[in-house]
Amino acid sequence: MEKIMAFAKNRHAHLTDGHGFDHIFRVYKLAEHILADYPQANRDLVLTAALLHDTYDDKLFEDVVVAKQEVVDFLTTLELPYIDQVFEIIDNLSFSANLDGTAQALDINGQIVQDADRLDAIGAFGIVRTLQYGFDRKRELYNPDKLPQTFTSKAAYHAAEGTTINHFYEKLFQISESLHTEKANQLARARDHIMREFVTAIEKEWADVYGD
Ligand code: ADP
Ligand code: NI
Repeated sequence: MEKIMAFAKNRHAHLTDGHGFDHIFRVYKLAEHILADYPQANRDLVLTAALLHDTYDDKLFEDVVVAKQEVVDFLTTLELPYIDQVFEIIDNLSFSANLDGTAQALDINGQIVQDADRLDAIGAFGIVRTLQYGFDRKRELYNPDKLPQTFTSKAAYHAAEGTTINHFYEKLFQISESLHTEKANQLARARDHIMREFVTAIEKEWADVYGD
């Protein structure tokens, strides 16, 4: 697991868009936290997939085929017995793959990784990551004429020149309804609440002073 963590650290070291190694570390710890309730889960598989889940994402790496092959080569040298299952989880994890209906159903191992990744998208850390992403991609911060907007297809989601604050409407406010495990649902309550307070405060500050 140490070698896998070092690989992930190296892979995410340069990212300043909310997908730095700090995100990976939190997802790893969240997965550990949820795993405590699931002694029947494959712990090593879950933690490996948690550490590697963003190592060949098309938002983060220019050549996804090359990026994925590097991960395949790395895991092959470790001779783990569950390599195929790691990729099965990662390939069916993402919000956009699920929007598109192309994602396959995840078993409990994949569900734990997905809950962990989704939990780090919401709450106070989720707010910070969303701002980091918006700054990094030079997105418009807030535009009251552009929200709330939601998308039902992957193409529309990726094509939309939405604002950073609209990301709460297009994705983050829906996350607490989409979790699988009891522990994730418990953690999501306070996280959902603080996000809604934050966006409400942005809208109120705008309406009170800047909106006329
Ligand atoms: P997934 O891998 O589940 O498809 P993403 O990698 O698209 O999710 O998103 C991860 C995080 O990056 C989001 O939770 C958010 O913090 C940030 N992010 C992604 N897209 C946007 C966006 N359009 N605007 C602001 N933040 C974004
Ligand atoms: Ni992630």
